[in-house]
Amino acid sequence: MSGKDKIRKFRENLTFECLIQPTTDEVLRKDHPIKGHWHEKIFKNNNPIVLELGCGKGEYTIALSERYPDKNFIGVDIKGARLWKGAKYATENQLPNVAFLRTRIEFITSLFAENEVSEIWVTFADPQPNKPKKRLTSHQFLAKYKTFLKPDGIIHLKTDSILLHESTLEVIQEGGHKLLEANNDIYAPESHVAEEITSIKTFYESQFLAKGMPITYLKFVL
Ligand SMILES: C[S@@+](CC[C@H](N)C(=O)[O-])C[C@H]1O[C@@H](n2cnc3c(N)ncnc32)[C@H](O)[C@@H]1O
Repeated sequence: MSGKDKIRKFRENLTFECLIQPTTDEVLRKDHPIKGHWHEKIFKNNNPIVLELGCGKGEYTIALSERYPDKNFIGVDIKGARLWKGAKYATENQLPNVAFLRTRIEFITSLFAENEVSEIWVTFADPQPNKPKKRLTSHQFLAKYKTFLKPDGIIHLKTDSILLHESTLEVIQEGGHKLLEANNDIYAPESHVAEEITSIKTFYESQFLAKGMPITYLKFVL
């Protein structure tokens, strides 16, 4: 993508009502005004809120929102040029139950209040081979999610990375979390996973599948 293209997308991002872009100053060691107010200020309903962390272009967020109109979906990523795609689609199609949030997930506790979120999807997160604490399913990140996820709130992880899959299994065991489902190859003929796990494919997922890489899945509660 050229620099010009990025600038055009960043400019258009400012016009999307569904895209919230907090400044670092608004979230660094302090709560953002939206924290605890997503239902009333953004969605104008009381339906469950589902997050997709590291959503990239937002394929999962968009597809789930169209499938579940009685839930609200927020795609979170730091890359504005990727979020542009999901935010543009949500705007053009007037999707009432979709928002996108541009932030570093490190700041997530400044943006959501206790029990505000019902479910989390982590889709094809960077495996961070040399920085385990930076993995989106590390103990450190799960502790952050616990502050705002409902007690029975499910976390889903889809990945192509054996390292991320296995290290997350370790974190689940060490943290005493409850593993609900584990699958090493969701597209294998003998796999029995929920339809939404295989029927929605993200941008990265399609690329990994084209290379013949198995896609794995974990489902757990904290
Ligand atoms: C490999 S891409 C996957 C994108 C998308 N889920 C997909 O499957 O096509 C990982 C995404 O996570 C985002 N990401 C990684 N770490 C992040 C962090 N700490 N805060 C916010 N976004 C992050 C990156 O910007 C990137 O868009």
